[in-house]
Amino acid sequence: MQTGVPVGSTSGTTPVGVAPETSKSPQRIGVPREVFPGEKRVATVPEVVEKLIKLGFSVAVESGAGEAANCSDESYRAAGATIVGDAAQLWATSDIVFKVGVPTTEEVGLLREGGTLIGFIWPAQNPELMQQLTAKRATVLAIDALPRMLSRAQKMDALTSQAGVAGYRAVIEAANAFGRFFNGQITAAGKVPPAKVFIAGAGVAGLAAIGTAAGLGAIVRANDTRAEVADQVVSLGGEFVKVDFEEEGGGGGGYAKVMSEGFQVAQREMYAKQAREVDIIITTALIPGKPAPKLITAEMVKSMKPGSVIVDMAAERGGNCELTVPGQAVVKHGVTIVGYTDLASRLAKQSSTLYATNLFRLTEELCKTKDGVIDVNMEDDAIRGLTVTKGGTITWPAPAPKLAAAPAAAAAKPVAAPAAKKGGHGHGGGGEPMAGNKLAIMFGVAAALFWLIGASAPAAFLSHFTVFVLACFVGYMVVWNVKPALHTPLMSVTNAISSIIAIGALVQISPIAGAVDRPNDWITWVATAGIVLTSINMFGGFAVTQRMLAMFRK
Ligand code: NAI
Repeated sequence: MQTGVPVGSTSGTTPVGVAPETSKSPQRIGVPREVFPGEKRVATVPEVVEKLIKLGFSVAVESGAGEAANCSDESYRAAGATIVGDAAQLWATSDIVFKVGVPTTEEVGLLREGGTLIGFIWPAQNPELMQQLTAKRATVLAIDALPRMLSRAQKMDALTSQAGVAGYRAVIEAANAFGRFFNGQITAAGKVPPAKVFIAGAGVAGLAAIGTAAGLGAIVRANDTRAEVADQVVSLGGEFVKVDFEEEGGGGGGYAKVMSEGFQVAQREMYAKQAREVDIIITTALIPGKPAPKLITAEMVKSMKPGSVIVDMAAERGGNCELTVPGQAVVKHGVTIVGYTDLASRLAKQSSTLYATNLFRLTEELCKTKDGVIDVNMEDDAIRGLTVTKGGTITWPAPAPKLAAAPAAAAAKPVAAPAAKKGGHGHGGGGEPMAGNKLAIMFGVAAALFWLIGASAPAAFLSHFTVFVLACFVGYMVVWNVKPALHTPLMSVTNAISSIIAIGALVQISPIAGAVDRPNDWITWVATAGIVLTSINMFGGFAVTQRMLAMFRK
């Protein structure tokens, strides 16, 4: 049980002559009730409370904090949290506060001097809040400032988890406002065509919306300025609709760039055509730090069929549709335009659970010693990126993280002699081409070995050996040019296919019709073992492939 007394600091005064205390008492994580009107999410859920306690922390939750996300005080208590009735007491007794929404001035006032706050901050949009936090000498980790390009950061990426929930909810809102089925049906009363859905912007939210709408049976089309997302659109059951204008849409870091006027004219033409054809439009187009591009004009809305629906996910940033009213659902020209800015909060249990898991993963990174005390290590790229103030000093914006996975600078590579490059064989994963003379030596050695074996081995062996060597060579040529990311799926299939070995083993143990000789016992045993092992390989290979494919299915 927690005492409600401020904890987590190093122990107080050290008597003269006594070695200073080095161990720290476990810190308390506090989870207040969200104060933004209509916010239903909560920063942690009972399942995650248990995990935080296992990391050594104590957890306090304000009474009623999880009510709107279906997490009762009782469930938090059962998970080991202390329920605190009063917000002021909760803030005052917590070393670390977990929040969802940007803190208000009153909340910052409640934060302990030198305390730690983790949640959405948006430092660029909230300079005043940053000043208030530094005045409190606070250490603030803004979950929105996470360097998303670090693969290690994905498990903490709350923007992605929340946008995924919001994309799903956008389709549910559209279905709610739309007067027809999503899937096509043939009923006794007649044939119902499937709904047509167009998604503008195939980022995190857009892709979630594509998967959800396709899952409900609609015909889904999508467009994005970044052509590289086309494959993802198709893999989720959508059709990628291109703009009839050649221009690279990537602006670096996986984000889009503002497109040329020529592109925008061609894009508007294509969007106008889609607006006339489809029943539902979900817009998610955004470039971080820029106002949302106006993609759906009033004219396009007018051209839509009566009863059509637009869900404008970018409403908070000005909207992708000219007629959107942020925060509201309005009907204009017979089209319902949904401009809700709280889509993730409308699926509070799901979004809170994912958010809580993101914060737990972050806490794990902050407390590698599992002793209930966080260490805001500014040498760690992910932590550095998130930390916007530390002990009262503004540390935002963080320098760009050093990407370990990034390819080494071209200049740093040893320059191969042009003649040597010719004989090289490219490795799909970016390996160094093999030098020509090295390859020649290898071929020479292989040929000499082959000649030696040929000179001494029986003729039957030699023919099998030749097939084996050629098979290895062909296998090498096929696999070597495959991208490393695809190695695992490829290997699991080839495992299954390579189990053709089973046929060879079966031939060895089954007596040939008309032959008088039985195969040797040891050949039978080795072949039997071969069949058993290869069966594991075969079925295992298919099972692994199925599991991996299932990860990409809904
Ligand atoms: P994201 O950055 O992953 O995706 C945005 C996509 O829009 C990118 O793929 C980008 O290439 C594309 N894009 C940019 N300009 C474009 C243009 N002119 N034409 C076509 N595509 C364009 O962002 P994410 O996380 O998917 O969020 C999407 C939107 O949803 C944002 O506006 C975000 O603020 C909003 N959002 C809204 C919520 C709500 O409750 N309404 C909740 C969560 C997110």
